[in-house]
Amino acid sequence: MTLEELFNKLWIDYTAQNPAAKKVYELFTTEGEEVVNDHIAFRTFDDPKINIDVLSKTFLEKGYEEKGQYEFKEKHLFAKHFEHKTDKNAPRVFISQLKTSDFSEFLQKILKSVVHNISEEALVSEELIFSGNVWGTPDYDTYLRLREESEYAAWVYVYGFRANHFTVSVNGLKKFDNLEQVNQFLKDNNFLLNSSGGEIKGTKEQLLRQSSIMANHISVEFTNGVYSIPGCYYEFAQRYLDENGKLYSGFIAKSADKIFESTNYYKG
Ligand code: NI
Repeated sequence: MTLEELFNKLWIDYTAQNPAAKKVYELFTTEGEEVVNDHIAFRTFDDPKINIDVLSKTFLEKGYEEKGQYEFKEKHLFAKHFEHKTDKNAPRVFISQLKTSDFSEFLQKILKSVVHNISEEALVSEELIFSGNVWGTPDYDTYLRLREESEYAAWVYVYGFRANHFTVSVNGLKKFDNLEQVNQFLKDNNFLLNSSGGEIKGTKEQLLRQSSIMANHISVEFTNGVYSIPGCYYEFAQRYLDENGKLYSGFIAKSADKIFESTNYYKG
């Protein structure tokens, strides 16, 4: 599978499951924009069978290299970001993992059983990264209990391995000069922005400003019925040149910390 095929597969899966994400994309293309993807993100647990090192393998094999590490104390997350060595048009890849040992025995037990349920075949497949939930239909009560401790854990428990979000590069847009204009455009089209820590995370001085829409609700089949819960979201990033005139390519932990909340449960 080529890198292009891999990103196409992730995109098809992401938009099929989240029609709102496709609508965002179409809003921009209808305006005549060519949407450039700044980065995509994945979520997982720190179990050695499915941690960042495992999920990043597919990308490393396709020419990516590690470029940064990030610590999120409050949410008990650790993340790395990767960039392609030669293809400057290839999106950055951001992968985070939950520090499960920081949580209750209940959460640890559930997540252990989840990993235990993954087939050996799935674990070694290069398709793991877009194989979604590979441990079986989730249980709604378990989802609710996980949410009490970690919205992140609950989200991964339901959705598994897939692009958690794609990101529109504001720098790549022609009609929009800044993130404020993009945010206004989204609000005019009835999208709900993540306002945790303000609608815009980060500053020009930090060389990266980000915003995101709250994940739209989608219907998910649980063992005990179909429930509507937040799915995936879309993010928007505006990057600035550093003092050497080079476009900043990293991430700001304090900003990403708030962006994670785009999949938090809310009444839809
Ligand atoms: Ni992101």
